[in-house]
Amino acid sequence: MDDLLFQSYEMRGLKLPNRIVVSPMAQYSASADGLATDWHLVHYGNLSLSGAGLVILEATAVVPEGRVSPYCLGLWDDSQVAGLRRIVEFARRPNASHMGIQLAHAGRKASVSQPWLGGGALSLAEGGWGLWGASAASYPGRDEPICPGADDLERIAKSYLAALRRADEADFDLVELHAAHGYFLNTFLSPLSNFRDDQWGGDIERRMRYPLEIFQRLRAAWPAEKPMGVRISVTDWVEGGWDIASSVLFAERLKALGCDYVAISSGGISPDQKITVGPAYQVPAAAQVRTQSGLPVMAVGMLSDPDLANRVLVEEKADLIAVGRGMLFNPRWPWHAGLALKGQMRVADPYLRCHPSLRNLPR
Ligand SMILES: Cc1cc2nc3c(=O)[nH]c(=O)nc-3n(C[C@H](O)[C@H](O)[C@H](O)COP(=O)(O)O)c2cc1C
Repeated sequence: MDDLLFQSYEMRGLKLPNRIVVSPMAQYSASADGLATDWHLVHYGNLSLSGAGLVILEATAVVPEGRVSPYCLGLWDDSQVAGLRRIVEFARRPNASHMGIQLAHAGRKASVSQPWLGGGALSLAEGGWGLWGASAASYPGRDEPICPGADDLERIAKSYLAALRRADEADFDLVELHAAHGYFLNTFLSPLSNFRDDQWGGDIERRMRYPLEIFQRLRAAWPAEKPMGVRISVTDWVEGGWDIASSVLFAERLKALGCDYVAISSGGISPDQKITVGPAYQVPAAAQVRTQSGLPVMAVGMLSDPDLANRVLVEEKADLIAVGRGMLFNPRWPWHAGLALKGQMRVADPYLRCHPSLRNLPR
């Protein structure tokens, strides 16, 4: 079988040396004002030496109330640029990964404790805050969110734009817009969470309008040579919810607006979701969106078997492979995949003597 995992991939001016992406994974380890900490430098610095072509930093909030937890990263203030820029600067070395960041607003699922403290809703007294959603429909068990009016939506759009400018100041190579997992933009898309009766709610065209407007404005403001993608929940996994056909339409619209890829995740809008999880379980949906929309896709979800990951590319079901938990478990996953597939391993100079096969490799 061809080795595609280790073939380069270009999006605009970004040439990735391979198709391996470290999936965005929240660390819940920022300071209480959303600043990156030593944890982020060590964690992402390490992942930038993993051999992956691209590392995408975790969901980073565009407004304070858009954080998942009080300890999530933010880009709502200029003071938050320097810590992130330091991480990107660290990765500017031979054979390190390119660096992207995910911009997010957690909407009606915000304001929870760190997962290792239970991940439960935080009251105002516990340092939590009021929630926002596409309409005043709560996520089961959570407070009713505020339904934003036109002024609120414009303020939030401007916050996305300001965060984007800061992502550029921090020198990120790529931005991914988070429109998945039941978060703010996802609540507009899904008929299970959007009950608006204005221009941003109703049929699918209206439900897609605000997320598309955000993407279009961000794309226009982001340097033309830098790629921008969108993470979606390809299906709600609930009867009558957002589905793969909806995602194909959304991807078509994103493509027309200059989107470089969609990352195909799923679920998160409703606890009623019925998901059968297993290796590559989201790949059939990714393949369908890719074929029917013509937009490149990033596959994710239980793809940490290198042969399986490669096969997804060979069978033209995806263009990029994101690995999440597998990279936490084994941050040198791309090296092991390189050995298994005989692909070109990317190793920073100080590590070159770690394996006999590396000694004579050019960098
Ligand atoms: C600790 C952790 C944090 C995560 N945080 C995010 C996040 O910030 N943004 C996001 O889109 N997905 C997030 N995810 C989902 C992953 O990006 C990925 O889609 C998921 O783990 C499935 O891929 P995997 O089977 O390779 O882990 C997170 C997953 C984990 C395990």
